[in-house]
Amino acid sequence: MPAVAAHAMVVSEQEHATRAGLEILRAGGNAIDAAVAVGFALTVVYPEAGNIGGGGFMVIRLPSGRVTTFDYREKAPLGATRDMYLDRRGDPVEGLSWEGHLAGGVPGSVKGMLTALERYGRLDRRSVMAPAIRLAREGFPVHAGLLSGLESDRDLLCRFASTRAVFFPGRPTRPNGTAPGGAPRTTCLPADSAAAGLGPTAPAPNDSAARELPPNVTRREPFRVPGGLTRSLGVRAAGDTLRQPDLARTLEEIAAQGEGAFYRGRIADLIVAEMRRGGGLISKRDLANYDVVERAPVHARYRAHEVWSMPPASSGGVILAEILNVLERFDLRALGFHTPRSVHVTVEAMRRAYADRNRFLGDPAFVDMPVETLTSPAYAEELAASIDILHATASSEVLAGARFPSATESSQTTHYSVVDSLGNAVAVTTTLNGGFGSGVVVEGAGFLLNNEMDDFTIKPGVPNAYGLVQGPANAIEPGKRMLSAMTPTIVTLDGELLLVVGTPGGSTIITTVAQVISNVIDHAMPLEEAVAAGRFHHQHLPDAIFVEPGAWSEETIRRLRAMGHEVRVRGSASGRVNAILYDAGAGTYRGVADPRSYAGLAAGF
Ligand code: GLY
Repeated sequence: MPAVAAHAMVVSEQEHATRAGLEILRAGGNAIDAAVAVGFALTVVYPEAGNIGGGGFMVIRLPSGRVTTFDYREKAPLGATRDMYLDRRGDPVEGLSWEGHLAGGVPGSVKGMLTALERYGRLDRRSVMAPAIRLAREGFPVHAGLLSGLESDRDLLCRFASTRAVFFPGRPTRPNGTAPGGAPRTTCLPADSAAAGLGPTAPAPNDSAARELPPNVTRREPFRVPGGLTRSLGVRAAGDTLRQPDLARTLEEIAAQGEGAFYRGRIADLIVAEMRRGGGLISKRDLANYDVVERAPVHARYRAHEVWSMPPASSGGVILAEILNVLERFDLRALGFHTPRSVHVTVEAMRRAYADRNRFLGDPAFVDMPVETLTSPAYAEELAASIDILHATASSEVLAGARFPSATESSQTTHYSVVDSLGNAVAVTTTLNGGFGSGVVVEGAGFLLNNEMDDFTIKPGVPNAYGLVQGPANAIEPGKRMLSAMTPTIVTLDGELLLVVGTPGGSTIITTVAQVISNVIDHAMPLEEAVAAGRFHHQHLPDAIFVEPGAWSEETIRRLRAMGHEVRVRGSASGRVNAILYDAGAGTYRGVADPRSYAGLAAGF
């Protein structure tokens, strides 16, 4: 994973999207133009997460040093109700907020990206959308990672005829029990009769991606294409061309007519027709009323650095600030990288911050939040003082805001970072929530809808898909944004851009970003090391540290357990960071795409 050095750079999880951004930079676009080009390209080449059917957050630093953010998080439809995912006994109906039409929030990405483009871009809409339209219309060579991802999520995707038509054309189907809510469901047959054994397979020997990886890094997708995928996607195998004509037309209409095409025109009609077919709630009024909010960033200082991140409706910036503020009170460099003592204090900071997240944070249009207190140095001082340096604090003893009177992704989110030679920097994290979102392709429009409603508190005290146990501040209300953990972040030093960073990973997003920042600042790691380093996570509840396989020695785990921590080794890697670091010595940016992703690319010129 060599870092790439350049004066203008794009790092994303998909090489075709990175190249789309570079094309726009080369054509005279700035980082905002390039980021919007990447965002639209991802919707074509990365259906797992990318995302005109979803929402996201963008943090922009302008050449003047001013930082601003765009919140284009999805909203609950106006017909949504607090208990809409509960059965008659008041228990959550399994899967109802996760798969299918009812799981979808009102998408924000199209309006969000076009608003940012209008306010801070240089090029016109048609120019920045041209690469995405070309990728959809002319097609792109499919990566083995996408084929195997589709195969893993076959049961979700094949439930919907519109989705089968795009991703499994011609694949035979069979009945597959009942869907959440009781409707009969369908699945596609495995790619061939031998596919019953489809599980993680060893990397193909000649796959360039199969090079040596750090011990903690495992890839999410197997890299050998399962046999018999000849009918999947209408392509024969990895490397064959996938064309998406419906999606191409959708993008062409947006390019020609602007966001109105999506929120009021033919595409809006198609979304509402899809909702009617599948019992979803998104209406014409929801789409027409959808608004994007430009917000001031959350700001924190960390060891002389300035950290700028996303305010609510994401919890990312507030909780990142809270964690870093506490960590600043400990000399992590002296404690050492991943020593039991340094892991312990970091976990204790995470535990306390997530308790606050889960109790206090929500959509600022609906909830009063003690953001100033949570991000204040004085509060961090009190939290730090409550940490026993030798023993774990049980989460049951950590009450959110206990120290002042009033006071959390499947991980199919994606992050991209862009810088230009003019001094603009853009950090975008965007998502459909689960892999391939709700599984529903809008018929005729060719894109997948999100399942973001699951990020709300479905029932106070009951864990969501990420195990986050949240409260009433994040309860479902009509028109409300569900709380996110996405943490697109920019770090500056002495007024100069230093780091652009972010990651997918659901509830682990914030702790991953905090660790990359700490690896760079506290442990002076080169960016490639800071990104590849093993990761751990604590979110208050469940009261356990989750660590990537291979990240720690048995001895480290033993000593943490002796301090009272429950340590659980994850089954797979955590997060996929795409970051850019300024190298003051060389006067260039270094970009790194996480080795955990299957087709990430950092490129620049
Ligand atoms: N859907 C994951 C997040 O927004 O945090």
